[in-house]
Amino acid sequence: MSEKNKIRALWPTLFGEFHNENHQNIKKELINFFEDYKKKNPSGRKKSSLGTENYNLYESKYDLHMQKNPVYDKLFSDFIMRGFFTMSNEANKSLLNNFSDKEIGVSITGSWFIHYEQGGFVLPHNHGECSWCCVYYVQVGKDATTGNGGTYFQKPTPNRTTLDFGSYYNRFNVHDFNPEEGKMLIWPSYVVHGSYPYKGDQDRIIISANANVSILENGKPINTK
Ligand SMILES: [Fe+2]
Repeated sequence: MSEKNKIRALWPTLFGEFHNENHQNIKKELINFFEDYKKKNPSGRKKSSLGTENYNLYESKYDLHMQKNPVYDKLFSDFIMRGFFTMSNEANKSLLNNFSDKEIGVSITGSWFIHYEQGGFVLPHNHGECSWCCVYYVQVGKDATTGNGGTYFQKPTPNRTTLDFGSYYNRFNVHDFNPEEGKMLIWPSYVVHGSYPYKGDQDRIIISANANVSILENGKPINTK
């Protein structure tokens, strides 16, 4: 093969799966924090006037990282923000040399929890004003599967139009992930996703967050065009 020949993967859609080894040590404290929050904010996030994408669940406001809960904040600094940093570095790895002398910082633009009641689910949607998004499974019953409380992602590219082998890699319209306690998924903000209804022994509780990852100058994020 000529040295001039190249194969490029353009616009890669990366999905990260990370497991928090420390999850069982913090699970109870996270749930206590959410229960207290619910008592103080019984109506949760205000529903959009355009209707709701949610069914049979409680969703907090998007300000959980501003509540100064030490366990929640440590989960973000030790695990969730590192995951965002890893994903951004991987997606931008061919460009990292351009910024080798710069500092890179993760900022959380919103974070919230969802407590699903029996059969609760979220319809397909995507998140705005961020580059990466995550879901972190705080509690799910052992009976949870990809189809029972799993998270699904819709393919962001057009559908396959032939059934040849050449397009075989492009055959799925949806990818499902199995929910597991302490697992976190990270994906680019443009990917449409939702959750399958969950019925199980224990209510499904998740944290979700949006993040930007920025080059910093004098400690402040700058735009990278
Ligand atoms: Fe979402």
